Amino acid sequence: MRQYDAIGPSVTERIDSAILEAPGRRVQILANFGVGYEHIDTSAARANGVIVTNTPGVLTDATADLALLLMLMVSRRAGEGERMVRAGKWGGWQPTQLMGGDLAGKLLGIIGFGRIGQATARRACALGMAIAYTGRRQLTREEIGFDAEFIPEIEQLLARADVVSLHCPGGAETRHLIDAARLEQMKPSAILINTARGSVVDEVALAAACASGWIGGAGLDVYEREPHVTEALLPLENVVLLPHLGSATLETRLAMAMRAADNLDAFFDGKDPPDRVA
Ligand code: 8YV
Repeated sequence: MRQYDAIGPSVTERIDSAILEAPGRRVQILANFGVGYEHIDTSAARANGVIVTNTPGVLTDATADLALLLMLMVSRRAGEGERMVRAGKWGGWQPTQLMGGDLAGKLLGIIGFGRIGQATARRACALGMAIAYTGRRQLTREEIGFDAEFIPEIEQLLARADVVSLHCPGGAETRHLIDAARLEQMKPSAILINTARGSVVDEVALAAACASGWIGGAGLDVYEREPHVTEALLPLENVVLLPHLGSATLETRLAMAMRAADNLDAFFDGKDPPDRVA
């Protein structure tokens, strides 16, 4: 912060008010390498005249693909199957071996119906799923391009959905939005998918819910204290754990880098950066 005019932080760099307020700061802009920016204290940035930008739009497809991957992996018990084969424990095909559940005909409940939530829903439609969502407002069919039911009350969505996928931003407003009480509202067969932010889910409560059969399973790409993963999740066969891979494709990471560079170029050309969030 004292040596450079700009920094491109990622999700692993927590930039809090103490860092932003520290004397001798040279940095004028934080061009975040990612769309989510809960790791940056944007109020403190604003108060200290530091501009913050993000990279919206360019990682929508990659992240939605990953949400689908997790849904399929959990519902078809792919992690368990892979571990079985690698451990040399597969004794051959059996009629009732590792039976999962179909996604076709099931209801996908999306929490946070922005770009990534909608892209996930669009993919799930192709699998034959029905879509419901909570979000800031009800959208028209013309706006989204497919049928989706708006369920304003999160409790109702949790009670009805077969798969719940989280696509809301992280931060204080959504911290532990999915806690023990909300997990209890879900169907015993339901699957929870989190490609948003770890802070949205109470990880200890989720581990208890998956271990005790309150819910059917979970697929996680993000965690409350990355790279730490709540230990109680590790032995659970009905939980798929990925290491924050949401945007990890070559095409997407290049596009993210170019987007961050565009914001820096604009700023140092004296223009307003296109993706300014603070
Ligand atoms: C990024 C992400 O790779 O963009 C985001 O919000 O979560 C990831 O896809 C990560 O944030 C890098 O900073």
